[in-house]
Amino acid sequence: MSILVTGGTGYIGSHTCVELLNAGYDIVVVDNFCNSSPMAADRVREITGKDFKVYRCDIRDRDGLKKIFEEEKIDAAIHFAGLKAVGESCQKPLEYYENNIWGTVALLEVMRDAGCKTIVFSSSATVYGSENKVPFNETMPVGTATNPYGTTKIYIENILQDLYKSDNGWSVSLLRYFNPIGAHPSGRIGENPNGIPNNLMPYIAQIAVGKREKLSIFGDDYPTPDGTGVRDYIHVVDLALGHIKALDRALGKTGVDIYNLGTGIGYSVLDIVKTFIEVNGVDIPYEIGPRRPGDIAECYANADKAAKELGWKAERTLADMCRDTWNWQKNNPNGYEN
Ligand code: NAD
Ligand code: WQD
Repeated sequence: MSILVTGGTGYIGSHTCVELLNAGYDIVVVDNFCNSSPMAADRVREITGKDFKVYRCDIRDRDGLKKIFEEEKIDAAIHFAGLKAVGESCQKPLEYYENNIWGTVALLEVMRDAGCKTIVFSSSATVYGSENKVPFNETMPVGTATNPYGTTKIYIENILQDLYKSDNGWSVSLLRYFNPIGAHPSGRIGENPNGIPNNLMPYIAQIAVGKREKLSIFGDDYPTPDGTGVRDYIHVVDLALGHIKALDRALGKTGVDIYNLGTGIGYSVLDIVKTFIEVNGVDIPYEIGPRRPGDIAECYANADKAAKELGWKAERTLADMCRDTWNWQKNNPNGYEN
């Protein structure tokens, strides 16, 4: 069984490639490396001892994708490829709509023409917007995204639902990730942000390695136990394993299935900082700054549906997430660059 992994050299994609190979799937990776390095694929080969093909191809390039489908026998796609920086999406909305939405449409057209109708899509908890109450569950109506990145996820979910309505032969899995952090325990693959990290954990990791001075905590006056924002942080390896379970199920059926991939536990910014310091024995200086526009107080999953239908549950602890992040960062202070 051969799986096309778009964005397969990115953060979540590379970890999912490892688990796909470990589970016995063959994989074909497509990436344009706009936010990743081909070296991630070498590291995946090193971790698994297995080989696979990597195509440098933009998913908006229909002819390029078509060729790949002609050369390879693809049974399903896991679709990670997309731009993901919330702040940048506000500066460059057209680039985000063009890349994420048109890229997905191009991929779907090529898949349809090749008769490959199983897709697992990287959606996000951001689709719950600020209208819903935590814990978020899959039966809640989709909310309003506060930024163009989030809007692309809502649109793509709609596109995939419409596609299924038009042709019941499709099998669509919409996986709504909460906050993925951590790295493979080998320390060989991990998150490798360009420039100044937008997200909490990579920022903390860069302070620990001496690249940044101090964390600014975005607000301590939220209605949460310690006043700082609460999120559902999930170890990227648990997240990757969730994809295997979703794929196993999707291959045997048709329809649209939506799953939250989170732990169901909310931790505050201060919980993360304190655990990182404790587990890794490093110092993380911080100060309290203003709230970041667009942030919500709390975001965590009800993860019961994935447990019930997929038999999947996140197992790794916050301490595991902090330890594995640091193991990756300290061994690769410049990411995949030497
Ligand atoms: P990432 O940037 O590390 O990986 C995305 C990959 O897609 C990169 O390798 C990039 O080079 C590639 N890519 C982007 N546009 C492309 C295009 N047009 N053609 C080919 N390749 C392209 O991001 P990630 O954190 O691994 O996220 C993967 C997916 O999960 C994204 O769709 C993201 O929106 C979604 N997601 C991420 C998070 C998170 O916090 N990391 C949370 C929810 C959802
Ligand atoms: C986590 C918490 C911040 C940085 C984003 C996207 C979301 C999803 C996951 C893709 C918040 C606080 C952060 C800092 C801080 N991605 N923080 N200082 O915003 O929950 O989610 O990534 O789909 O769509 O919005 O993640 O890591 O940026 O923030 O205090 O320097 O840490 O306010 O409470 P977020 P994050």
